[in-house]
Order: sequence, then C-alpha cells, then structure tokens
Amino acid sequence: MDTDNHALRILLGISGGIAAYKAPALVRHLLVRNAEVVPVLTPNAVRFVSPTALQAVAGQRPRTDLWDDDAEAAMGHIELARWADAVVIAPATANLMARLAAGMADDLLTTLCLATTAPIFVAPAMNARMWEHAATQRNLHRLRADGVTVLGPADGEQACGEFGPGRMLEPEEIADAVIARLATPRSLAGVRVLVTAGPTREFLDPVRFISNRSSGRQGFAFAQAAHHAGAEVTLVSGPVHLSTPAGVDRVDVVSAQQMKDAVIGRAAESDIFVSVAAVADYRPHQFHEQKLKKSQQPSDEFRMALKENEDIVGSIADVVPRPFVVGFAAETENALDYARQKRERKRLDAIVVNDVSDPEIGFDSVDNAVTLIHAGGEVALGKMAKRAIAQRLVSEIATLYAARADG
Ligand code: PMT
Repeated sequence: MDTDNHALRILLGISGGIAAYKAPALVRHLLVRNAEVVPVLTPNAVRFVSPTALQAVAGQRPRTDLWDDDAEAAMGHIELARWADAVVIAPATANLMARLAAGMADDLLTTLCLATTAPIFVAPAMNARMWEHAATQRNLHRLRADGVTVLGPADGEQACGEFGPGRMLEPEEIADAVIARLATPRSLAGVRVLVTAGPTREFLDPVRFISNRSSGRQGFAFAQAAHHAGAEVTLVSGPVHLSTPAGVDRVDVVSAQQMKDAVIGRAAESDIFVSVAAVADYRPHQFHEQKLKKSQQPSDEFRMALKENEDIVGSIADVVPRPFVVGFAAETENALDYARQKRERKRLDAIVVNDVSDPEIGFDSVDNAVTLIHAGGEVALGKMAKRAIAQRLVSEIATLYAARADG
C-alpha cells in the first residue's frame, strides 16, 4: 500500500461489547507498530470504554458523534474517511456487523465505513450462539463478499460464561494481522503451505509416553506469518496449549505415526512443506494395553525396547508432485555443520537450524535465533521473538520458492 511514507493512519471503530475494554491496549499495539490511530466509538461503546482513556493512549480526540460541531469543524467525517489508510473495527458486535452488511449509515462509524475507500477489518466479538446464528453467518458472508477482512473470532471461554466461537482476538494478534496485511507485500498469495508444529507423544501404556519440550510456538508463529503473507495454511500440530492462528486450518495429532499420515495425505496438494515439529525419533517397541505395574519388572532397572519412527520430512522428497521442503534442525553442538549434513541426507531444499543448548532460545522459549541454510547460501537471524523470526523466514522462503517456481 502506498502511504507516501507517512505512518499508517487507522480509524479504530469500537462498537458496544464487553471486549471494548481491550480497545486502549489495541491502540497501544498499533502505535508501537508505527500507526496513527483515531478512535471512533458507537454510542453503545461509550458504555464500555471511556473516550478519555482512549484519548490519553491515542493522543487523538476520539470521535463519538456525527453531530459534534467542534469535531466536524476540525476534520469533517468525509475528510476523516479519506484520511484513513484502514478502518479496523474491534470489537465488532453482531449488531454492528448487521448494520455494516446492510449498508446502513445511522451513526458516525457506519457512515465512515460507507464513505471510505480504505480496506475495512472487523474483529467480531459476541456470545457463541449469536455468532452461530444464521443471520450473523449471513451477514458475515455478505461482509466478506464486500471485501471486508474478518479477523477471528477465537474459540474459548466467554465473558457470559459460555464456551465456543465468539471471543475477540487478542489486541496484539489484531495489530499484527492488520499491519502485516497493510505493510508487507503478500509474498505467498495463493500458495498452499503445510506446516507441522509441537512435539509428538509415543505411548508405552495408557498413561506413559516419550515426548520432548516443544511448545509449538515456533511452528504456530510460522503458520500465522505464512497466512499473513497470503498463503492457504494447514497446520498439523502435536499436543500443545496454543490457540489456532486466525485463518489457519488445524489438524491435531498425537503420535509420530499420526503426524506422518496427516502430512503424507496432504503433501502432494501443498506447494511448500515446513517441518517445525519435534517428532520423536523412537517409539516404544510394544504398546501395553493396561498400565504397567512396577511388580511386572524383575529388577530395579527398567528396560524398554524402542523402534525407530519413520522420518516424515525425509519421505516427502519422494512425493509426486514434490513440494518445496524446509526442515528444521535442533542441534546442541556443531550446529551449522550438522544441519548442512542433515539438509543433504534428508534431501531438503532448505533447513533452519537452532542451537537448542541455549536455554533462552529453541525449545519452549519466547525467542529464537536461527540460520537458514539452502543450496545458494545461508542467512543468520539473531535472537528475536519467534513471531519475528517466523516473519523473516516466510519472506526468505517465499523468495526461494518463487525462484524455484520460475526456474
Ligand atoms: O516448539 P517450540 O517450543 O517453539 O520450539 C521450536 C523447536 C526447537 C522445536 C524448532 O525450532 C525446531 O528446532 N524443530 C525441529 C526439532 C527436531 O526434531 O529437530 P531434528 O533435528 O531432530 O529433526 C530434523 C527435522 O526432521 C525436523 O524438521 C523434524 O521435524 C524432522 N523429523 C524428525 C524426526 C522424524 N521422525 N520425522 C521428521 O520429519
């Protein structure tokens, strides 16, 4: 988007739902991403969040009324609609979505939405039954057909005590999604990306398993960044405690065998496969249907026979048509050398190596530091949030993929 190098100008629409209390946090997340924000509240939103608090965070006078002479004299609503690079409505209630879908202009916010040519984003927030209601779903289709980008909602516990879809995405996720869409080129538009994340569990009996410390963060961050870059993303995840990034299809698995089946079944329909998961190399040779008793072991030394799991990423090289394949390498010594060898052995187009002996990066940490190794060179990315690493990797991998597709 051409913004003549000025900061991104965002009209933040706030409608009257309980999630409106998160609006000041959203303003802050947008500001730190170098945006300028003018909050616009519906009359009901004022019951949930104070314009004074928003003014203090945004440094701009919030607008609440089409008939505010002073505000109109400073910047009329049509001027405001032209000023915006984007309109972001968070929370968007069922009522707001219905009015927007019907093309109504019965308050300042809906009038601005009709008068602007800027892209419009809505982050729905409502009770799960209201979200699932046929009327809301009809409005959702209408809005999407009109070119509105819908962010979320997430699944989970709601303010009303119910569980289900309808939670507004977290302010940070909304800010990331909006900025990513407005500021970065859609380098993976239309590309189908398959990602694995998290650990696998290899059960010995109904209660005991072999696993590892993977939290899934790096793989989930990659899936989210690929989606923001325009890809159609399928995320095959081992057992983790993370919510699914908005817009990403998720398939849950437990064991390496299940992960392999999920990946093999989808690989030929994928353009890029990225194997971030920490797949267990071995599983117990035998699964015991009943919980093993201590007394079944003859001595104080417990011996367990293991069987090797099939190498999922290595087997993708034989898939026809073969996707562009990126593996990860978790190393504790000679990281670069071992990763280069791993890339050759597993016939990968690229490999991303992290030194997992450093407790501040790699497994179960917020940050990571990696080197991307491919046939034409190596790119080192210093320590930063996994989310930022993911964005950089997506852009590097998109370039490599495009070069392969052209060649
Ligand atoms: O989940 P987080 O807490 O965010 O941590 C991120 C991470 C450390 C798990 C991630 O950055 C990472 O390094 N992932 C790869 C972990 C791993 O299993 O590395 P490896 O060197 O053992 O395996 C090499 C590659 O083979 C990996 O792409 C792995 O997915 C794949 N593999 C391994 C075994 C197997 N049976 N099948 C596989 O496909």
